[in-house]
Amino acid sequence: MRAFKNDSFLRAIWRQPVVKTPVWMMRQAGRYLPEYRALRQKAGSFMQLCKTPELASEITLQPLARFPLDAAILFSDILTIPDAMGLGLSFKEGEGPIFAHPLRSEHDIARLRVPTPEVDLAYVLDAIRLTQKNLARQVPLIGFCGSPWTLATYMVEGCANKSFPRIQALRQGDPKLLHTLLDVLAKSVSAHLNAQIRAGVNAVMIFDTWGGMLNTADYQIFSLYYVKQVITHLLTQHEGSPIPVILFTKGGGQWLELMAATGCHVLGIDCQTDLNDARLRVGDKVALQGNLDPAILLESPERIRAAVAKTLSAFGKKPGHIFNLGHGVPQQVLPEHVAVLVDAVHELSEKQIPL
Ligand code: CP3
Repeated sequence: MRAFKNDSFLRAIWRQPVVKTPVWMMRQAGRYLPEYRALRQKAGSFMQLCKTPELASEITLQPLARFPLDAAILFSDILTIPDAMGLGLSFKEGEGPIFAHPLRSEHDIARLRVPTPEVDLAYVLDAIRLTQKNLARQVPLIGFCGSPWTLATYMVEGCANKSFPRIQALRQGDPKLLHTLLDVLAKSVSAHLNAQIRAGVNAVMIFDTWGGMLNTADYQIFSLYYVKQVITHLLTQHEGSPIPVILFTKGGGQWLELMAATGCHVLGIDCQTDLNDARLRVGDKVALQGNLDPAILLESPERIRAAVAKTLSAFGKKPGHIFNLGHGVPQQVLPEHVAVLVDAVHELSEKQIPL
């Protein structure tokens, strides 16, 4: 395995002992950082940032220049795949993602093709190669995709719509057509993750942001089944290093055992789920990543430290914990508060007394 200056993230994934609990945060590069906002303004749009490897790489590294984080996550978006399939993605300030050509008919779904990542998503792969060069093996780099189900919700709705009327209607009215869509998405996601692995990411994460809206039976049929398809088709190693898979289902706390059986190596835990309970349920099958409530970052430094201590002791002094939030860093957070969190994780985990 090629060495990193700081490999605590990968050690924790393989449940090896670490001196300090590793920490990174979902949306660690984002609007809470003034340097991100400045670059976004200069670039003109979010998609311009994503599609310009120099800018995507610079943003990936912004939080690492400020905080001693133990992993980097590529700056990109899960919706680059539907964009590459021709749906025309843009982001309106304050409104989230919008597709110019959402899926509105059977014909729209039937004509979807699996993108060729090296051509249609070359900008993501270029950003990975450039970021790895700039990171110079300081810490590992995480690549990612959305789950087929989560991508399907955005592609069918056409915009962020938290009541999901169209995908619910499709699921009830024409499940066969939905399966056709999920199948082409599963193939697209595994192709894109494999291309990211070949371009040099050291771990991959699958974001199933909307799996939690399904009932248990439908979660297994429409979400988990396709996540399993994706994982089964992933390269398990690259240039002699194993490539771990992190699976995060927001609202998936009741299905941890099912998720742990997909072949993933880490489960992302949301803040609705008790970390100690999660660990007891999945045992040493997988490592756990999470799960501080992001809202704590809006509170005082003292309360942030106390909440970090609580999360660390909920997991206990055992190998296999990667500290993270239960969801992304909110936009209103002060960067100084993120510094408090990262330092607290390192300091308190080092001092923690074995339970
Ligand atoms: O730092 C990182 O975490 C890496 C980059 C990253 C982004 N999006 C950048 C981003 C990652 C891993 C994502 C994943 C993503 N994108 C998910 C899954 C995780 C989750 O949040 O549940 C989803 C659902 C998306 C789709 C998406 N992208 C939405 C719904 C939005 C709008 C909502 C929002 O927060 O603004 C985005 C935009 C987006 N993706 C931003 C960032 C930094 C904000 C863009 C901006 O306004 O500048």
